Amino acid sequence: MRIALAADNGNWHKARLLAALRAQGVEPVLFSLADVTVETGGGEPLRVPGFEGALPDGVLLRTIAGGTFEATTMRLGVLHALVAAGCVVWNSPSAIERSVDKAATSLLVARAGLPTPQTWVVSTRAAAAAIAAREARPGDPLVLKPLFGSQGEGLALIERPEDLPDEEAVARVFYLQRYVPRRDGLWRDYRVFVCDGRAVAGMIREGDGWITNVHRGGRPLPWAMPAAAAELAEAAAAAVGVAYSGVDLVEDGEGGFAVLEVNSMPAWSGLQTVCEADIAALVVRGFLGAVRAETRPRLVVA
Ligand SMILES: Nc1ncnc2c1ncn2[C@@H]1O[C@H](COP(=O)(O)OP(=O)(O)O)[C@@H](O)[C@H]1O
Ligand SMILES: [Mg+2]
Repeated sequence: MRIALAADNGNWHKARLLAALRAQGVEPVLFSLADVTVETGGGEPLRVPGFEGALPDGVLLRTIAGGTFEATTMRLGVLHALVAAGCVVWNSPSAIERSVDKAATSLLVARAGLPTPQTWVVSTRAAAAAIAAREARPGDPLVLKPLFGSQGEGLALIERPEDLPDEEAVARVFYLQRYVPRRDGLWRDYRVFVCDGRAVAGMIREGDGWITNVHRGGRPLPWAMPAAAAELAEAAAAAVGVAYSGVDLVEDGEGGFAVLEVNSMPAWSGLQTVCEADIAALVVRGFLGAVRAETRPRLVVA
């Protein structure tokens, strides 16, 4: 089994995944998506470092760490080509596309009938202003999020149409979501790690403000995850079609939960400090099971 691991954006996760793969008897090739090239004119046109003349059976991705729109598009194209050649990619490029695009996530979660704050995605400032005028007011705002945002960056509260930035500032997509107030004055919401269909770990995230991401100073706290939260996170992961994910949940104020986000490239160093499960081991076990289940012969263009 030829396994490639792309985890070049952080030593902690790389070390955990490497150790978990080795514990399963697998020595992966560490590579960076930035070093994959395409060369036509003979042989396999996709050149993955460490796989001369061949392709891996499985690729485990910690992130695709894109950068520019072009770099991200090329990396996704490379991953699609690997999938088309029978390689198992976790998460798959289609799943990454659905989860990185917050509009796609919201519509899939809503279509699956799962609770999530009411959301509008429009392309003009005029359309966004009409929604803000109708739906927002001081003390009862909407949340504006960058379509490709992560780590709590770039979010803004919109109380009136004048609070909206211009179209260039949001790359011409306004993603607006009803703000969910926290019940008890504590800035808390929840992260559930779902792997291979199962909610395997969860934590409370407590922030100093309404954005609780660990990257923004949110503190991980142990959480006795209620069954309803586990089931909702599992259903959200299934709706977006992610093999492993970090699902953000918030309390809905009526004793239940709502889905804020499904993340296909979740970090788990904060979560690992407050949960029992060995997350890297679970991700690796699920991934290797999927690679072993893929029985197609590994043909490479001659
Ligand atoms: N609709 C909302 N109501 C209240 N808080 C929100 C809402 N959306 C996001 N947040 C807060 O902002 C954080 C980041 O939002 P999220 O949608 O998860 O985007 P990101 O990809 O940046 O993590 C959430 O974890 C939560 O703390
Ligand atoms: Mg989030």
